[in-house]
Amino acid sequence: MPQSPFRHDLLQGKVALITGGGTGICFGIAQELARHGASVVLMGRREEVLKEAVAALHKEGLKAAFVSGDVRDFGQAEKAVATTVATFGRLDILLNGAAGNFLCPTDQLSANGFKTVIDIDLLGTFNMTRAAFKDLKSSGDSLVLNISATLHYQGTLMQAHVMAAKAGIEALGRNLACEWGEHGIRVCAIAPGAIGDTEGMRRLAPMGADKKIAAEVPLRRLGSIQDIAHAAVFLSSSAASYITGEVLVVDGGAWLIKPALVTREMWEKLAAKSPRA
Ligand code: COA
Repeated sequence: MPQSPFRHDLLQGKVALITGGGTGICFGIAQELARHGASVVLMGRREEVLKEAVAALHKEGLKAAFVSGDVRDFGQAEKAVATTVATFGRLDILLNGAAGNFLCPTDQLSANGFKTVIDIDLLGTFNMTRAAFKDLKSSGDSLVLNISATLHYQGTLMQAHVMAAKAGIEALGRNLACEWGEHGIRVCAIAPGAIGDTEGMRRLAPMGADKKIAAEVPLRRLGSIQDIAHAAVFLSSSAASYITGEVLVVDGGAWLIKPALVTREMWEKLAAKSPRA
């Protein structure tokens, strides 16, 4: 197991339900939460994928189970919460990670294509969070952690559907942080940037775009799944007990930077000609 900067029993006794937890970033989050003592339930649409994911966690000696279901269906959201509580006795962390994405210019996007992404990402987050309310409240010290994105902080071409969904998720989270704080429920989000070796990068940054992105990120690399998973461990821990309504951007500074109008080489030439001009 790779070295963690956190104490290994940081999340001992916590129970987490993780949508989209069978693969990619959300599997990585589930694995790190479990490595720090949490019991995790993975939710997704494909039972075979979930079985394999849970088997990998069991192989490490971690506490894990799965429940198959579609976050777009409120009844299936309720079933996932009930299964979690029946299996591990409580629910302390709900991670809303299930998401759909594809590149599509808006003038080519069908109404159903737009609705599909809104339904999975935004309605799915609402369904799960609403279904979990009673058990999160019973926990007395719980967290809803939504996976957002940085796409909607600027205009990201061919991503109107995802921008709208993620903006909605952040707005919903800020509302619930206010409404549910009195019940001991914190609501936060992580906004990952470009994360290497993920389905998202394969879909959204094909044809070598990942190398271009890595060269332009201020920290000069793509993110790793572990970068996101460690942010999730921090937000799930008591170190974050006074943080709610917050979106933690984990993108190496990528969304902040604009293309340079004057490059350093251009500046050096100008400065050589006319110092302090
Ligand atoms: N470009 C444009 N429209 C697309 C599309 C694409 N690449 N993929 C799906 N759509 C549209 C479909 O055409 C359909 O609209 P229509 O009825 O008007 O034709 C609508 O979206 C629903 O598609 P469907 O395939 O029936 O939905 P689904 O629920 O089975 O699939 C998706 C969900 C769309 C998110 C699918 O891409 C998926 O499952 N992706 C894998 C998971 C993923 O995206 N992870 C996130 C990585 S960042």
